Amino acid sequence: MIVLLTGGTGYIGSHVCVELLNSGHDVVIADNLSNSKIGVVERINKIAGNSSVVFRKLDLRDYESLELVFHEFQFDAVMHFAGYKAVGESVYCPLKYYENNVQGSINLLKAMLKYNVKRIVFSSSATVYGMSEDVPFHEYSPLNAVNPYGRTKFFIEEILRDFQTANKDVMVCILRYFNPVGAHKSGLIGEDPTGIPNNLMPFIVHVAAGEQKKLSIFGSDYSTPDGTCVRDYIHVADLALGHTLALEKHKQDSGCFVYNLGRGKGISVLQMVRTFQKVNGIMIDYEFSERREGDIAVSYAANTKAYSVLGWKPENTLEDMCRDSWRWYKNSKLMKL
Ligand code: NAD
Ligand code: UD1
Repeated sequence: MIVLLTGGTGYIGSHVCVELLNSGHDVVIADNLSNSKIGVVERINKIAGNSSVVFRKLDLRDYESLELVFHEFQFDAVMHFAGYKAVGESVYCPLKYYENNVQGSINLLKAMLKYNVKRIVFSSSATVYGMSEDVPFHEYSPLNAVNPYGRTKFFIEEILRDFQTANKDVMVCILRYFNPVGAHKSGLIGEDPTGIPNNLMPFIVHVAAGEQKKLSIFGSDYSTPDGTCVRDYIHVADLALGHTLALEKHKQDSGCFVYNLGRGKGISVLQMVRTFQKVNGIMIDYEFSERREGDIAVSYAANTKAYSVLGWKPENTLEDMCRDSWRWYKNSKLMKL
């Protein structure tokens, strides 16, 4: 298949790109490089050996330039990663998020309709489940996004459902990611946050590297075994595999399909810190601080649907996630990224 990856030079898109190339697909990346660098393309090609990915720099908000790429290639499927993802920023700049994430998605669907592209896989998030304490989250659990970023994901899911209802021969696959961490085993691609990281793993890595003095653990009095928050961390390589399996499984189908992509294992902040220390032999200085606003105590996936329907079995352990995140960070410094 020829697959269009919007946001394909980003963290998750780049790993999915490698997975698609390895499975024999042709890939075209469309990205405006607002949160990624062009050098990723060369490194993807290096990992994938003989394959070579096509890159087009474009912004999804610009419908005319998006049409050009649909005109140039006859896509069999689209995987839609492009969007902004910083929860905190979305609270202060909601319109920026609605315009980029929602309008960008609408433009993409318009182009798909016009150029007769019938399959789309969309990057949603566990954030659509919101503040519920009813864990694990099932695909049918109530949705209750609590910040503008989360609501963009919820609205796009709704738009996709309506789009599919109106276009019965279309296949929509919504993948709800839990907490993606880790990096490609080659150390050539990984998460590359600008500035001070907000998320746990990138922050731990920055402390390990001496870029931050210590980790603040947000809250020590949650009703969890050690008092710190519990999340479902999933290696980005396993996440990437979920995409190719979903596309393969549903390539002849029409309808709307939703899958949680998480390991279904709750890991506390302290567990994560200790595992990182043990695996990489580096002490992570930390202190307990106030709870972070908007955090829930426990979030993890019910993932039996992805297991049974897609045959998806995440293989990477928490140790792998800690090892690969640190390897990627060291390599990215060596490569002067
Ligand atoms: P990322 O920022 O690394 O990648 C997103 C890519 O989209 C970037 O390369 C950026 O340049 C590009 N982009 C943004 N707006 C664009 C536009 N208007 N036109 C063209 N390109 C544009 O993010 P990621 O971590 O790879 O996330 C990919 C998707 O998965 C996002 O939709 C995100 O919301 C979703 N998601 C991510 C996580 C996570 O923790 N990383 C969790 C759940 C869901
Ligand atoms: C965050 C986003 C969520 C997104 C997810 C993807 C928020 C509120 N939510 O989820 O929308 O889908 O990333 O990965 O930002 N922690 C610390 N100290 C830190 C950083 C984090 O203790 O410096 C704790 C947090 O309190 C949380 C856990 O580590 O309990 C994980 O945090 P994070 O990596 O930011 O992910 P989420 O909050 O689960």
